[in-house]
Amino acid sequence: MATNISFLSFFLAFLFVSTAARDVPFDESPSPSPSSTPKIKSNFTYVCDPSRFDDLGLDITTFSYCDTSLPFTVRAKDLVDQMTLSEKVRQIGDLAYGVPRIGLPKYEWWSEALHGVSDVGPGTHFDELIPGATSFPTVILTAASFNESLWKNIGQVVSTEARAMYNLGRAGLTYWSPNINVVRDPRWGRITETPGEDPYTVGSYAANYVRGLQDVEGQENTKDLNSRPLKVSACCKHYAAYDVDNWLGVDRYHFDARVTEQDMLETFLRPFEMCVKDGDVSSVMCSYNRVNGIPTCADPKLLKDTIRGEWDLHGYIVSDCDSIEVLMDGAKWLDDTHEDAVAQVLKAGLDLDCGVYYTNFTENAVMQGKVRENEIDKSLNYLYVVLMRLGFFDGSPSFISLGKENVCSDEHIELAVEAAREGIVLLKNDNDTLPLSSNNFKNLAVIGPHANATKVMVGNYAGIPCQYSSPLDAFSAIANVTYEIGCDVMCKNETLIFPAMQAAKNADATILFVGLDLSVEAESLDRVDLLLPGYQTQLINQVAAVAKGPLILVIMSAGGVDISFAKNNPNIKAILWAGYPGEEGGRAISDIVFGKYNPGGRLPLTWHKADYVDQLPMTSMPLRPVEEFGYPGRTYKFFNGSTVYPFGYGLSYTKFNYQITTSQRSLDIKLDKYQHCRDLTFEDGAYRPSCPAVLVDDMSCNDEFEFEVEVQNVGSKDGNEVVMVYSKPPTGIARTHAKQVIGFNRVFVPAGGSKKVKFTFNACKSLSIVENNGYKFLPSGGHTIMVGDGEISFPFQVNFQY
Ligand SMILES: *[C@@H]1O[C@H](CO)[C@@H](O)[C@H](O)[C@H]1NC(C)=O
Ligand SMILES: *[C@@H]1O[C@H](CO)[C@@H](O)[C@H](O)[C@H]1NC(C)=O
Ligand SMILES: *[C@@H]1O[C@H](CO)[C@@H](O)[C@H](O)[C@H]1NC(C)=O
Ligand SMILES: *[C@@H]1O[C@H](CO)[C@@H](O)[C@H](O)[C@H]1NC(C)=O
Ligand SMILES: *[C@@H]1O[C@H](CO)[C@@H](O)[C@H](O)[C@H]1NC(C)=O
Ligand SMILES: *[C@@H]1O[C@H](CO)[C@@H](O)[C@H](O)[C@H]1NC(C)=O
Ligand SMILES: *[C@@H]1O[C@H](CO)[C@@H](O)[C@H](O)[C@H]1NC(C)=O
Ligand SMILES: *[C@@H]1O[C@H](CO)[C@@H](O)[C@H](O)[C@H]1NC(C)=O
Repeated sequence: MATNISFLSFFLAFLFVSTAARDVPFDESPSPSPSSTPKIKSNFTYVCDPSRFDDLGLDITTFSYCDTSLPFTVRAKDLVDQMTLSEKVRQIGDLAYGVPRIGLPKYEWWSEALHGVSDVGPGTHFDELIPGATSFPTVILTAASFNESLWKNIGQVVSTEARAMYNLGRAGLTYWSPNINVVRDPRWGRITETPGEDPYTVGSYAANYVRGLQDVEGQENTKDLNSRPLKVSACCKHYAAYDVDNWLGVDRYHFDARVTEQDMLETFLRPFEMCVKDGDVSSVMCSYNRVNGIPTCADPKLLKDTIRGEWDLHGYIVSDCDSIEVLMDGAKWLDDTHEDAVAQVLKAGLDLDCGVYYTNFTENAVMQGKVRENEIDKSLNYLYVVLMRLGFFDGSPSFISLGKENVCSDEHIELAVEAAREGIVLLKNDNDTLPLSSNNFKNLAVIGPHANATKVMVGNYAGIPCQYSSPLDAFSAIANVTYEIGCDVMCKNETLIFPAMQAAKNADATILFVGLDLSVEAESLDRVDLLLPGYQTQLINQVAAVAKGPLILVIMSAGGVDISFAKNNPNIKAILWAGYPGEEGGRAISDIVFGKYNPGGRLPLTWHKADYVDQLPMTSMPLRPVEEFGYPGRTYKFFNGSTVYPFGYGLSYTKFNYQITTSQRSLDIKLDKYQHCRDLTFEDGAYRPSCPAVLVDDMSCNDEFEFEVEVQNVGSKDGNEVVMVYSKPPTGIARTHAKQVIGFNRVFVPAGGSKKVKFTFNACKSLSIVENNGYKFLPSGGHTIMVGDGEISFPFQVNFQY
């Protein structure tokens, strides 16, 4: 009997996996019936349009929710108070059915805009009127620019296109982007969607992109943040510790991330905290996985206490699509009934369900006494306040004039080229081979699986791009090009390598495009190694051996690849990493190869050697190394072994020198008698100051320090330099990070010129550490500030005094 039961549950679990794999190809996959979702009417303007009410035969003056003299919270409450229980539950799925009786129309909450307006969610679509939208590079490449104003600028352009499409009935107002999970493991299939492995950089990207999407110019700072107008609503996802998709049979629907509180605070939650506090995002999405046994969407500590309580979210919390089904059927959470499951997540603080569980089961859950109706009211209030801030009820005069001409405009397409140019990283450039002069290199061999890339360049969560500039197009516009594919991405055989070698033999220069694509790294697909697929390595080596002119290797990928062989091959003169560079990728690459743009991108994640992944399973969450197990640790903050290219690596066609012009070298912080000195864990024999640390929660955290760096361009070409600043805690504190990014700034410096860059840091944010017990401390003593890759470093003393 027992055997039968376990066999049965194994069988059911297997069934679930296989249906999940089929029915849920991406997270926000359509819930069972979205194909029948009626499109938003093109003539629909705003809810509280008096003529709409006339058409519906309703007297608008009797509906206080349309009274613009009242605060949003009062209006939202009025709306919710007029609904019956069964009407309420029909508004808390991604497809909100509306309540015609009281003039409330349907709304589809699910749209996506990860790197351009996308039609992945049912709220947005393209057709003859709007055939496409500007498709920017995938986020990992845009992140490599380390340019905060670019990140915000892209958000502004995407939201302008989204608003224009909304006016034409082609898009929603609520976008479930960006994806801000930290890249913990180099095998992760969704690296392309994220800003990399550094929690501060990821948080900073999140805050900037969200502000670009959400902020209405001139109204960024209102007194009451719950009534702050929104251009479109963004959503930071997937909360939290979500970074295994499908690795050797372990999938995200069943994965239980075992995470220490230290790693949680320091790494997994930090970008979300920055997104909510610095970006003032209006939504957060919880993830499919469990954290320490509890599904994230059912954890009141993660949702209610942290996002809504501690961080004070102004907005709503949404589930990943069909998350409630996943936690019930996949994780078998508490062996709950449908009603128990919806009651659990509602009580945990989940406001909106991407799926049908809330709509189908919440009414019964209330009737059965499992959850109070008041919990639904609270969620609905959060949801309607967001829609009011978006102008859904009252219209948005600032955006009313946006239309077709604001989508795929020349200016927007130029920004897509600019974003790719700014992100592309120069990894190798022996003897200054690049840039090529177009006068001397008239005949080019353009070779490789990505030489004619189009769709590959826009990655996943893409919409339909305005147009494509493939590498082949772009180089053909400048030179006489011979094109050979060599092999496709999987490169299963060598038959086409010979013609590629022939082309390279006759060309003045060879540009070889290799790398990965969504068949190797994608949602629901993690990598198992860090190598180029199939015979790609052979293609590169054989072409390099016979090429007449210089060989330039261009890699398209999101995750790093172990290309040590190419790095060490003297026949390969230059290497560029181009991420997935978006619709204009070809132009951006040719601009860099021919010197119209001097690259300044930096790797936003470590490029590990192939054997790194043999030392740790993808499912092991800890960031810190464990020497006795040979566990190497993760990310540049904790891994100290050798790499192919380190985090932050990137070359230029020119050379920069740094000089600190002014700097403060210490900070004296006066303590009151209630601010106690706390102990830290020190390494054996390490010096222990008399007052080792103070709890950040006990401090007012107003203390700042600043310095100025002069960046000199001592080379012969104008260039762009990313100035990275790291802090390093005082030596002797046990098991802390080797260093951490605390700021960066990208500057343009003309050849022979110099520019001063001023940095200001908050001591609590930039110098604190999280201890094993989950306390956040500011340690006293000698911290180190590093500018660049060790170019300059200076001690910085923190002193506490009573
Ligand atoms: C838009 O309005 C026009 C004229 O008022 C009408 O003919 C058309 O059917 C409307 N379209 C939609 C999608 O409601
Ligand atoms: C940063 O990005 C903006 C685009 O928003 C661009 O105008 C500026 O030149 C970039 N800065 C550098 C140094 O590349
Ligand atoms: C939810 O309800 C709809 C409409 O009654 C039904 O078609 C669908 O199968 C239900 N889905 C689930 C998962 O219960
Ligand atoms: C650079 O050029 C010099 C002179 O032509 C040559 O001796 C040297 O080997 C080259 N170095 C590399 C790394 O190609
Ligand atoms: C390049 O790709 C485009 C789009 O996929 C295709 O139409 C074209 O034929 C390709 N060019 C060559 C030379 O294969
Ligand atoms: C273009 O390249 C082809 C193939 O290498 C060559 O035969 C031809 O002469 C070149 N044309 C010019 C104008 O250089
Ligand atoms: C080798 O690869 C090429 C290009 O991908 C394909 O057209 C050909 O059929 C393959 N040959 C064999 C023997 O698999
Ligand atoms: C890494 O850290 C260990 C332990 O502190 C040390 O023994 C080792 O030398 C370090 N390795 C490198 C490459 O710095």
